[in-house]
Amino acid sequence: MHLIDGKAVSAQIKLEIAEEVGRIREAGGKIPHLAAVLVGHDGGSETYVASKVRTCEEVGFKSSLIRYEEDVTEEELLACVERLNGDPDVDGFIVQLPLPAHISEQKIIEAIDYRKDVDGFHPVNAGRMSIGLPCFISATPAGILELLKRYEIETKGKHCVVLGRSNIVGKPMAMLMMQKAYPGDCTVTVCHSRSENLKEMCLRADIIIVALGAPEFLKADMVKEGVIVIDVGTTRMPSSVTKSGFKLVGDVKFDEVSPKCSYITPVPGGVGPMTIVSLMKNTLLAGKKAIYT
Ligand code: GUN
Repeated sequence: MHLIDGKAVSAQIKLEIAEEVGRIREAGGKIPHLAAVLVGHDGGSETYVASKVRTCEEVGFKSSLIRYEEDVTEEELLACVERLNGDPDVDGFIVQLPLPAHISEQKIIEAIDYRKDVDGFHPVNAGRMSIGLPCFISATPAGILELLKRYEIETKGKHCVVLGRSNIVGKPMAMLMMQKAYPGDCTVTVCHSRSENLKEMCLRADIIIVALGAPEFLKADMVKEGVIVIDVGTTRMPSSVTKSGFKLVGDVKFDEVSPKCSYITPVPGGVGPMTIVSLMKNTLLAGKKAIYT
């Protein structure tokens, strides 16, 4: 069993990005600038956004954090998006999800200029990704592709089961694993909460990507020997042993599944750190106007 070390790979990629920022700086170019919009005080969102801002500093990007209270109106948030769309210094920005129930997430996402949509959530980016055109690929699927690539995991002709059909992970992941490329060229099955034969599908999978947000959902009796398991789950569970009072629990019952795997990502330290560096890579692309001019 090989453990896929997302922490080590992400550290390496951060160095690569930092080197490139150094070269841009030396050449007198513009330093990439990522802005993050955070609404409210959700614990998970606070942690993720703080981590995004910290990583910007690590790689040498400029970052801005724009905060609103929970009661911000949709109009105010749309005005903020418009401001960021029009700010020539901001290369890319994200609005951290979830948003309060009185704000339409879709409306906010569609208001973002797709050329600055480094989350890859705008329909233009989602659509271009699905037909294989250059675009911003959302961070979690992009991070998973990078892990498969860096570990030189063969994907061609394999049966990949994606558990979960979210717009952020499941759907784009399925699309990317079936594309004519490496990583890709898989036969893809997508299972979700309404699937009747999920266990049978998993037992036939060479690669399982679990993005359900259901702690320890995937058990040993659901996977075949030699399977590759990518665990996207990050449920925050109360813990008396950690300083923060929380621990992250994945969607895979790691102790019993891992002995059957040829490769597996741990939680934490697998997909999570890759997600943030993928956002940094997209910001670098946005800064260089590498995808859209
Ligand atoms: N909430 C959970 N994941 C993400 C993400 O990748 N981007 C944003 N903006 N919000 C999220």
